[in-house]
Amino acid sequence: MSVTSKKFDNQVAIVTGASSGLGKACAIHLGSLGAKVVVNYRSGKEEAEETVKEIKQRGGDGLAVQADVSKEQDILNLFKKTLDTFGRLDILVSNAGMQVDAPFLDMTLEQWQRVIDVNLTGQFLCCREASKIFIRQGREMAAEEKSQNAIGKIVMMSSVHDIIPWAGHVNYAASKGGLLMFMKSIAQELAPYKIRINAVSPGAIKTPINKEVWSDEEKYKELLELIPYQRIGTPEDVAKAVAWLASDESDYIHGDTLYIDGGMTLYPAFSDNG
Ligand code: BGC
Repeated sequence: MSVTSKKFDNQVAIVTGASSGLGKACAIHLGSLGAKVVVNYRSGKEEAEETVKEIKQRGGDGLAVQADVSKEQDILNLFKKTLDTFGRLDILVSNAGMQVDAPFLDMTLEQWQRVIDVNLTGQFLCCREASKIFIRQGREMAAEEKSQNAIGKIVMMSSVHDIIPWAGHVNYAASKGGLLMFMKSIAQELAPYKIRINAVSPGAIKTPINKEVWSDEEKYKELLELIPYQRIGTPEDVAKAVAWLASDESDYIHGDTLYIDGGMTLYPAFSDNG
C-alpha cells in the first residue's frame, strides 16, 4: 500500500471560529493537508461538528471544542484540551472575529466593547497561550530534531479594514487596525524563539458576515466597484493563503500582512478620478 505524505502530517492546528465562514474553510483545508485540527466554536456546535465531519471525510482528523475567545478561562481550556487530545500544537489560525455595526454617534459602549473583546483581546489570549506552548515544545526538542524552520506558526485573521477606514463600522476597523500593530509587535518580540507570526487581510469574501451585501443584487453591483479584480473572494482563496503562511514554504516571511482582496486596497475610485 502506498502512503502519500501530506504537508502538515504530524502537525496539530487550532482554528478559532471554525464553525463557519473563513475559519471553517481554513480548518478543512489544513485538515486535508494532513493537520489534526481543533475546530473551535463559540455557539455553533452542530456547524463545528459538521466541519470536523468534513475533515474526517477527507481522511483527516479533528475535534470540535467550545470556547469564547474573549474569555481567558475558555481559552486556557481550549489549549489544554488540544494538548490532552493531540499531544502538541504547531499552528494557530487565530480567526474568530465579528462585526456589530452601528453609526458612530449611536454606537453603544457594549457594541464597541464586544467587538474589541472578540477581535482584539481574543487574539491576545490565543496568541499568548499558543506561544507559550511553542516555546515549551522548542525547549523539549532534541538538538537533532531542530531545523532551520519555525517551531510554531501563527496566522491571524485581519481585514482590509486594518488600513481602509470604514464609517459605520468603527469598532471593527479599530479592532483590525489594533491587530496590525499587535501582530507586528509580538512578531518582533517572539522572533528569537523562532515563532513565525503573520496576518492575512481579506477583502470582500463570500461568507455569512457580509451576506447582506452579496445576496442583494444592487448591493453586490456596488461592491464590485470596490474590487478591481471584479469578483467576490471565496473562503478557499483565503484558506489556501493561510495554509501557505502556516507552512515551511513561507519560512522567511515574518511579521507581515498578506492582502487577499482582489485589489480592494488599490484605491479603485482613483482609476478614473483624482
Ligand atoms: C468585512 C466584510 C467586508 C470586507 C470588505 C471584511 O473585513 O468583515 O464584511 O465585506 O471586509 O469591506
